[in-house]
Amino acid sequence: MPHGACRIIDLPRVYEARGNLSFVEGQVHVPFDIKRVYYLYDVPGGSERGAHAHRTLHQFMIAMSGSFDVILDDGEREHRFHLNRSYYGLYIPPMHWRLLNNFSSGSVCMVLASERYDAADYYRDYEEFRRALQART
Ligand code: TYD
Repeated sequence: MPHGACRIIDLPRVYEARGNLSFVEGQVHVPFDIKRVYYLYDVPGGSERGAHAHRTLHQFMIAMSGSFDVILDDGEREHRFHLNRSYYGLYIPPMHWRLLNNFSSGSVCMVLASERYDAADYYRDYEEFRRALQART
């Protein structure tokens, strides 16, 4: 599966009277191997998360419950996504500044990531992120 741009990826759905099931396999449904899973929950109304970019990390974000917005900035344009179902997710390649907000009460944001946690992979300063993007072109 090619990396390509940030995008919504629909997941398989097994609908049954006894309940629905979806699944994600690395390199099959998302374009990377999954090495880490983390999730945001108990997010107070009005909170914002993210506000950083990653140098090399690929991520896939799913609203497991409730809803929230993700705003991505790749240096050229802003992409806005509203996540509110657990049968699709948002693929975020490296070098995308992300902001998460508009969390509904009880929302859970699960993130599948291509690498273990590494603080050195973060850009936390937006101007530094923009300079790094420009240095690549
Ligand atoms: P962070 O990614 O900075 O979240 P946000 O940008 O939304 O504030 O993570 C918050 C804290 O959690 C930070 O101190 C690092 C820690 N953390 C881990 O230890 N492991 C992880 O896998 C993640 C995602 C965060």
